[in-house]
Formats: sequence, C-alpha cells, structure tokens
Amino acid sequence: MSDTLVCVSDYELQAQRLLPKSVFDYYFSGADEQETLRDNVAAFARWCLYPRVLRDVSTVDMSTTVLGQRVSMPICVAPTAMQRMAHPDGETATARACLSCDTGMMLSSWATSTIEEVAEAAPGAVRWMQLYIYKDRALTQSLVRRAEEAGYKGIFVTVDTPYLGRRRDDVRNRFKLPSHLRMANFESPDLAFSSKEGYGEDSGLAVYVTQAIDATVKWDDIAWLKRLTSLPVVVKGVLTVQIDALPEVVEAVGGKVEVFMDGGIRKGTDVLKALALGAKAVFVGRPILWALACEGDKGVANVLQLLREELHLALALTGCRSLKEVNRSLLRRSELISRI
Ligand SMILES: Cc1cc2nc3c(=O)[nH]c(=O)nc-3n(C[C@H](O)[C@H](O)[C@H](O)COP(=O)(O)O)c2cc1C
Repeated sequence: MSDTLVCVSDYELQAQRLLPKSVFDYYFSGADEQETLRDNVAAFARWCLYPRVLRDVSTVDMSTTVLGQRVSMPICVAPTAMQRMAHPDGETATARACLSCDTGMMLSSWATSTIEEVAEAAPGAVRWMQLYIYKDRALTQSLVRRAEEAGYKGIFVTVDTPYLGRRRDDVRNRFKLPSHLRMANFESPDLAFSSKEGYGEDSGLAVYVTQAIDATVKWDDIAWLKRLTSLPVVVKGVLTVQIDALPEVVEAVGGKVEVFMDGGIRKGTDVLKALALGAKAVFVGRPILWALACEGDKGVANVLQLLREELHLALALTGCRSLKEVNRSLLRRSELISRI
C-alpha cells in the first residue's frame, strides 16, 4: 500500500476509508466548529520560505536533541490516546516505528498499552511520558514512578485539558472505547474508561475527564510534580493551538527552556517553519494515527520517513546544512495568502 501513499494527506484519506466512523471522527475532529483545527493546518501557509542557493547542500544534518536525548530528526511523535482503536498493536507498533526511525515517542496516559509494554516493545528507544493530573494524586504519582522505572526520559504534563473541548461528533457518536479495549494503565473500569455505562448521552471521554481529571490544577501543581521526580518536566498545551503563538512563546522563555511545537504539522515545510520560528522540535499527532490505521508499525515508520525526506528537501532548498543554520531569516509573511 505504501507505494500509493506518498504524503500525509494520502494516509488521512486512506484511514478514513478503513476506520469505523466513530473512531475516525474521534481521531480527526476538534472542538466546536473546528475553526482552530483547520487553522492549525492553514497557519503554516501564512508563512513563506526563502530559497537560498549556491551553498553546497550535498549533506544535511538533521539530528538534534530533545531534553538532552539525541534524536535523528526534530520530528517526534505526540501522545494520542487509545491507539489500539487504529491497529491491534497500537502504541507498541508506534514505539517500534519510532525506534526504527531513531526518533522519540511520547506515550499518552490514556494509552491502550501499558507504560511497561511500550518500553519492552522498543528497548533503548527515546520516549517520554505524557501525564494527566488526576484528582487521585496517589494514582498520578504512581504513573510518574512507573514511567521513571521503565526508562522514560521526561514527563510532559498536559495543562490544557481541565475539561475536554466539546467535540460534536463524539457527542453524536456517544464516543466510548470498543468493548475489547481499555486504558491499560489503570485497574478500575471507571479509570480505564471501560465501564459499560455511566456516560449518559454525552461523549464518554468528556464525561471521563470531568469525573477523573483534576480541574483545580494551577502552577503550584507543576511545582508539586517537579518535587516528585528528577525527570525533566515539560508543560504541554501552552498556547500551542496556532503557529502564530510560537514566536511569542519562544520570546517569553528567552532561551531558558526548550520550546516544542505541535498542531497541524503535515509536511516537511511545516516543520521547517516551526523550527525557524524557534521550536527545538515538533511533534505529530493525527498523521501517526492515520498511518497506524493504514499499515501498523510499517505505516508509522513510512510517515516518519516521508516527513524526514520532506524536511531534508526543505532544508536543502533553503540552503541549510544543519539545524543550526535555521532561523527566522528563512521566513517572511505570505502576502498572497493574507490577501485572500
Ligand atoms: C485522537 C487524539 C488523541 C489525543 N490524545 C492526547 C492525550 O492523550 N494526551 C495529550 O496530551 N494530547 C493528546 N492529543 C493531542 C496531541 O498530543 C497533539 O497535541 C495534537 O494531536 C497535535 O496536533 P496534530 O494532530 O495536528 O499533529 C490527542 C490528539 C488526538 C487527535
């Protein structure tokens, strides 16, 4: 199948054909009228790249580090929940693909594979744990401990989900996990999102979040988390909704911490634009789910490889021989698009 799938959009179309509607809707959709979802992708077109020529681009080094861990490219995998809905191997397939591409994977707290299973599936790989802060703090702490023991290299604490955005398709579909699956890191059916009832007429996941996730979280809780672990702690969900927010975030932190970007990355030039605006690396979410649905670990490796090749081309055509040469001077605002 890979022969005919030559870009991320091809995988999206194919995944839509293959996945049950309620699963595709959950993977695809965004909140409310989905303006931000669309703009996450569209925002990249508001920037143009300058080609630069005559610079010997016969070799281009794309390797970098993320929180001190070496990765072969600045494209890593974002945490997306419940990947076994896309493919029976779910997160373990994603882990194997990341290892084969020598890049990092962030595992969702809501994975359908355990923290330990994912570690065992790809020994030696770079991976980080995405953490939701549960009302049950002992449980939250145990997730951190398990990640530490299984060799995860950082905790990305998601701070933009005190409640789940209202995804209308999930409400219409009364979205729940298929009955053979559970959020594998939790014991009780309520926390594993595998209860048979109790979600009413709503998106099951929205109800789950309201019941289980701590909406009181403030900056103090980040300090609490930092006291709990010696791993690096990263806040995930700070103004990441649009590429337009990235320059401000980069300026605000003044080089003191690494800034990562996700949301809407679909091709190599998107990656380069985010790097030029100051991101250390980017993370991709939905494209990985589409790839998993199409071809399991092979699909994920293929999508990562496609993005790698596209980034390589974008770097070479802008005259960059390594990521050190990427900066804001590569970009200008696109007048063409903004006039439309
Ligand atoms: C189906 C789905 C599930 C997600 N699950 C999680 C999650 O469990 N934890 C989290 O922090 N972010 C989650 N995200 C957000 C992603 O980590 C990431 O921020 C986002 O998907 C990036 O945008 P992209 O899909 O356009 O690449 C999820 C996103 C999707 C689409």
